[in-house]
Amino acid sequence: MKGIVLAGGSGTRLHPATLSINKQLLPVYDKPMIYYPVSVLMLAGIREILIISSPEHLDNYKRLFGTGEQFGVAFSYAVQPRPEGLAQAFVIGRSFVGEDDVALILGDNLFFGAGMGDLLERAAARKQGATVFAYHVENPQAYGVVSLDKAGRATKIVEKPQKPESTWAVTGLYFYDNQVLDIAAAVKPSPRGELEITSVNEAYLERGQLYVERMGRGYAWLDTGTHDSLLEASEFVRTLQHRQGLQVACLEEIAYLQGFIGREQLAARGEMFAKTAYGRNLLRLARGDEGPGGPF
Ligand code: G1P
Repeated sequence: MKGIVLAGGSGTRLHPATLSINKQLLPVYDKPMIYYPVSVLMLAGIREILIISSPEHLDNYKRLFGTGEQFGVAFSYAVQPRPEGLAQAFVIGRSFVGEDDVALILGDNLFFGAGMGDLLERAAARKQGATVFAYHVENPQAYGVVSLDKAGRATKIVEKPQKPESTWAVTGLYFYDNQVLDIAAAVKPSPRGELEITSVNEAYLERGQLYVERMGRGYAWLDTGTHDSLLEASEFVRTLQHRQGLQVACLEEIAYLQGFIGREQLAARGEMFAKTAYGRNLLRLARGDEGPGGPF
């Protein structure tokens, strides 16, 4: 399975912080925002990742991640000339995806929760169709909204409805089989001029192949689109990390525990960041201080 991180957009709700830098490069507490969605793909076992961003920002991502060998993964890069919708990721990424299945995650979506790895592996293992994740929110009209029947099956999906029929928002994480390439290619722009991911999901729903996994109240799905929500996300990560002495979205740690990199590579990255809690976490892991059973 391949993975795509869409890190475009103009971040107008974060001006002037985003006048010269892409929103997904702003820090959420101690690491760039994009670390969090990349960590989700890596937890799903995905090792080939395409980063899509706007022309003026793509080089920053190349500087940040390079080839990906430090995490035992392979990064590719592609430009989205204008922010014309999430479904465009599959038009831009068509040759990258090739014959494979693909997961898409938005570069500004932050997920956290126990059992995340299992949830992701279940979605990645599904052979046919699309899997989306529904999250109960206070303000569904800001999102794609999915209606569910008693058995938890999707009955309807609507983009930003004025009068939402359900409180289940569709999060910015999607798993698709290879049909998505042709489905996305046939999507027409919406009234707001975008190729909507909701149109893609509707096509799967019509085929009876849209699966919804509910992320229950034990999960955090955080928004980072405004100054306040960004600060709240930072505080959330800081609180967890301080209390537990563990890191959220520490990519080298995930790579090591997934078997993508070895202990020496882990230690070398720890040395690079030795002045930070992030680096000290890597060094501690490389020394094996946690003993059996830790740190998860
Ligand atoms: C997009 C999607 C929406 C989804 C949301 C998740 O909204 O169109 O269906 O619920 O991402 O973050 P946008 O970011 O374009 O407002």
